[in-house]
Amino acid sequence: MSGFRTGFIGFTLVILPKENDIAVANLFFENNFEEFAVSQFDVHVTSSRFEVIKGMEGFVKENLEKLLMPIEESWQPTDFIPDLAKGNWNEEIIEFKARAASLPDEVMVVLVGDMVTEEALPTYQSWINRLQGVRDATGASNSPWAQWGRGWTAEENRHGDLLNKYLYLSGRVDMRAVEITVQHLINNGFDPQTGDDPYLGFIYTSFQERATKISHRNVGVLAKKFGDDNLHRICGQIAGDEARHEKAYKLFMSQIFELDPAQAVLSFAKMMKTKITMPAVLMYDGRDQNLFEKYSTVAQKTGVYTVKDYSEIIGDLVQHWKLDTIQGLSDVSAKAQDYLCNLSERYAKLADRVTFSGKEKFSWIFDRDVILQP
Ligand SMILES: [Fe+2]
Ligand SMILES: [Fe+2]
Repeated sequence: MSGFRTGFIGFTLVILPKENDIAVANLFFENNFEEFAVSQFDVHVTSSRFEVIKGMEGFVKENLEKLLMPIEESWQPTDFIPDLAKGNWNEEIIEFKARAASLPDEVMVVLVGDMVTEEALPTYQSWINRLQGVRDATGASNSPWAQWGRGWTAEENRHGDLLNKYLYLSGRVDMRAVEITVQHLINNGFDPQTGDDPYLGFIYTSFQERATKISHRNVGVLAKKFGDDNLHRICGQIAGDEARHEKAYKLFMSQIFELDPAQAVLSFAKMMKTKITMPAVLMYDGRDQNLFEKYSTVAQKTGVYTVKDYSEIIGDLVQHWKLDTIQGLSDVSAKAQDYLCNLSERYAKLADRVTFSGKEKFSWIFDRDVILQP
């Protein structure tokens, strides 16, 4: 809507104010953020990578129990929404809707974006089954990696299900427009730029699970602030799952850093150079070609997911995998190590320069505008 240039920094849209256009645009679009090209950190699924992954099966098996919740002890979506089988169902729904009525439109928009992202789960299960050494060879394989992939998917499936039910019962959004967006997103798919490489894949998910944890947690904080305790509990519960999944993928990568440090460092650098793109980047409601950009701007504006978060996640991963202590790397891996150790700070400096203004219309909220003034 505009007078502003827009661009993506990984997962988040950044609106570039006119006066800083050239400087910031160079940083984002022309990749002179640092002196390396993506191809310098190029990696391939070699037989040694495949061997490392296959060799981790025992490790994965030992950790499965602590990384996945037993299904009998798991929460289910119906634990958080009115029970329509109860005698007083109508009173419960009135109360539920009254709480949801207190939320501003901008919170509904980020919540819909998060829900649509979760609902595209078929895309993510297809993705994990492309990774070499990880894929489920039969669809019901007993291999530890296949068990992880299915268990993770089964846990994730509750997220979209619960958010979908919440949104439907809230009466706050145009559910048909939301459902069209989900169908388009699954139809369009998503390419996280990991190919079939498990190292790249687990770097991506380590980042992404932390990002979704932050996003759900922040929506929960907003829900509490505006008086919707139901949504606060829902988002907190989902953020808890994302935190456990983040822990799992970070643990898998920690093991890869132990076994194959030079290739692990190169893979981390390659994914950071490529940038982590949000899985819902191809969302479309059948009308709005800029839907993802608009949703990302609202996420930035509400503080649900920001450039600062992007920077913080890189810093957390660098620290978690103790990048600065890895010794004996060859020339290119040492360069990659150096690049990674300084990256969070570089993004943090950019975060202060993000501004936006104007307003955006969303089909999800019956074509009402969201004002973007911070
Ligand atoms: Fe999720
Ligand atoms: Fe997740």
